[in-house]
Amino acid sequence: MDIRTAPSAAPTPAAPAHAETRRADYRAPDWLVPDVSLDVTLDPDRSTVRATLTVVRNGHHDRPLRLEGDDLVADWIRLDGATITPVTDDGALIITITGDRATIDSEVTLAPSANKKLMGLYASGGILCTQCESEGFRRIAFHPDRPDVLSTYRVRMTADKALLPILLANGNCTASGDGADGTHWAEWHDPFPKPSYLFAMVAGDLAANRDCFTTMSGRTVDLAIWVREQDLAKTAHAMGALKASMAWDERVYGREYDLSLFNIVAVDDFNFGAMENKGLNIFNSRYIMADPDTATDADFDAIAAVVAHEYFHNWSGDRVTCRDWFQLSLKEGFTVFRDQGFSADMGSAAVKRIEDVRMLRMAQFPEDAGPLAHPVRPESYMEITNFYTATVYNKGAELIRMMRTILGPDKFRAGSDLYFDRHDGQAVTCEDFVKAMEDASGTDLTQFRLWYSQAGTPTITARLDQSNGTTILHVSQTVPATPGQPTKQPMVIPLRTALIGRDSGAELAPERLILLTEAEQSIAFDGVTEPAMLSINRDFSAPISLDVARAPGELEALAEHDPDPFARYEALQDLMLRTLIAGAKGDPADPAPVIESMRRTLASNALDPAYKGEALLLPSESLIGDRMALVDPGAIHAAREALRSAIGQSLAEPLAAAQRETAPGHDLSPAAKGIRRLRTVALGLLAAGDPVRGATLAKAQFDAADNMTDRQGALSILVSLDGPEREAALAAFHDRAAGDPLILDKWFGLQAAAQRTDTLSAVEALASHPDFSMTNPNRLRSLLGSFGANQWAFHDPSGAGYRFIADMLLDTDRINPQSAARLVTPLARWRRFEPGRAALMRTELERMAATPGLSKDLFEQVSKSLV
Ligand code: TRP
Ligand code: ZN
Repeated sequence: MDIRTAPSAAPTPAAPAHAETRRADYRAPDWLVPDVSLDVTLDPDRSTVRATLTVVRNGHHDRPLRLEGDDLVADWIRLDGATITPVTDDGALIITITGDRATIDSEVTLAPSANKKLMGLYASGGILCTQCESEGFRRIAFHPDRPDVLSTYRVRMTADKALLPILLANGNCTASGDGADGTHWAEWHDPFPKPSYLFAMVAGDLAANRDCFTTMSGRTVDLAIWVREQDLAKTAHAMGALKASMAWDERVYGREYDLSLFNIVAVDDFNFGAMENKGLNIFNSRYIMADPDTATDADFDAIAAVVAHEYFHNWSGDRVTCRDWFQLSLKEGFTVFRDQGFSADMGSAAVKRIEDVRMLRMAQFPEDAGPLAHPVRPESYMEITNFYTATVYNKGAELIRMMRTILGPDKFRAGSDLYFDRHDGQAVTCEDFVKAMEDASGTDLTQFRLWYSQAGTPTITARLDQSNGTTILHVSQTVPATPGQPTKQPMVIPLRTALIGRDSGAELAPERLILLTEAEQSIAFDGVTEPAMLSINRDFSAPISLDVARAPGELEALAEHDPDPFARYEALQDLMLRTLIAGAKGDPADPAPVIESMRRTLASNALDPAYKGEALLLPSESLIGDRMALVDPGAIHAAREALRSAIGQSLAEPLAAAQRETAPGHDLSPAAKGIRRLRTVALGLLAAGDPVRGATLAKAQFDAADNMTDRQGALSILVSLDGPEREAALAAFHDRAAGDPLILDKWFGLQAAAQRTDTLSAVEALASHPDFSMTNPNRLRSLLGSFGANQWAFHDPSGAGYRFIADMLLDTDRINPQSAARLVTPLARWRRFEPGRAALMRTELERMAATPGLSKDLFEQVSKSLV
């Protein structure tokens, strides 16, 4: 028997309307699967998977068992030992069972090397690996494949010993040995029941960096990071981060690791950053591999953050998992919050907060303001992979942070303890998390729950009134309409607020937490006699956009005096934005206040270089656009370049001094990283003020660099300049890469980010470069992602940038739909642009939407962008 359940590939003339899955339709599973046993023979071209499922009827009903399958061809299927021919539905098997318990056996044959979607079992550079979140297990075996069906897994793997000498799966290795004809085998058992999306298996020619960790109860955990032999030396930083994460989770959350083995494998082809499979994390190699010569300080930090993130999932995700995919933020928002806390503790908390807020504003605010806006807990989806978004991850993390701010650290910890304790081994909801916080703290979070259901970034206006001898703060909030949510209710907005003397610079009213709960509120401050300045939303206590009425000179004073580092940063950013927006509107403002504030920041002895580096970075062109009624990329670019040039000229001397400071490449201390950060920020401003001198300085920095941070920093400035230095440095950088894929990604990305009139044609040429690849998500993102984020170049008034991206994504979609769908978002923002560009962007979206055979992934993003 041969049951072909692969979906028919025949293209339909118009893209099919794909069904939406709705949160309201959730129903508990009809059948549970307490045990899964897999017997797998692994070969890149032809692997077989025999699955044995114990299935148990869940409750009193007579519904059949549904086993999902995606692109699966069953060789045979048996019910309690007897061959059956089930009804199929969109790749799934529908099996009628009379008793309450049964055994289902099936066998499928897979071709991992032909799997370019990188979901299910696939090959990456000779390594066989799996990716199952969200719905990839159904590409390996017929199974319910939903996160509320938890099973214990036993896996037997067999492969050619010479070709695939290392065999790994979740849990513990219980037996291994050699078979006939040069094969070998290994058996793995994972004692913790888990959903299918956490299943993993790896086979390849791998070498391990081994270490161990002693847990707080004294157990020894064997750690291993598996890479190709020649990459072993680059895994030291990731190993250090893993051990630091394990210790941090014990200290800060009381969470201890639970298996005696923890494996990490790095592969070059991976759709996301990394995956938290129980006991066997699989990583995109860019989040493992680092040494000072090939990775920047930012890369080192990202590696530590992602290693921590995936490790923390062992509790927030694996031990307590999601009931359904609408609850994704339950694990992702919480785990991002946890990795942010880890990174803050490992370096400068102030700088980390600034970086996180910049990321939120760059990725999440635009999402929340556009056609793809959705709540942190979405109500419906066509393709769940499209909901691994900045809203679910980063806004989700802000929700957890707000709960911690409202409850205070101790009650928050009591809440997380209760959550883990109450729900260990369960698949639960965002509501269960909030309830645990409520129960442990005695705080009513009823209104707070709106943050999970209402999309859109709240706008807060604040005005301090000292006109009648009293000091009153008037605050109001509105939540904008978003797709499907025309009207909104007021939210709970925690605002850390203080008053600062306009003359004295002293804190007149110590910081307090204002909980805004109504559309409008007035708050009195007692005992304030001096004229005061408002320091509000300190440390970015709520993910909102803020509009504060300011007296002349106030932002300058706050940029100098506000004791809260984030608020001080924010004041300087607001000052810059005021000047930039005026310039972009064709009404140039005097740059002197910005320049003088920057001069004082640079000269301050109280501030460290890392902070200065962040503070002196001008808001990006896209962020300026977000603050304007309609985006005119040319006007924004011109205004920003004019300000950068004025700054570079006026502050040439202190900037040059900062650029001359160096730190040895092997020194990865926060202080050394800060020096390098400020160095390249200063170089960029210097080059804006004097491009010829800038090119000379940048080339000198490039040539003398003993680390990737200085080298890439110098090249990132040079790529936007003219002259022989540019070409020489680009060629040298490519040569030095010597084929290293992560360095080549940088080479592509830097050129796609260049601020030049010929960037579009350069990017088009790079798409035909021999080192370009349509099948590697990192390479694709380094070219198309960087170009899509390059506002001025991408939004070329001809529309050629839009046409190029659309063509590339239509090609990508036939290979890897997840990648295509992720890279289309710059076009989704078409309504925000001036009418000429908006029409051209819309045309490309319509062309994609009308393309036959579009994937569900890309179809959802494109069709929703057009509404
Ligand atoms: N859960 C992963 C994380 O740690 C995200 C992820 C990895 C993912 N690979 C994926 C999501 C593939 C969807 C598809 O955030
Ligand atoms: Zn995650």
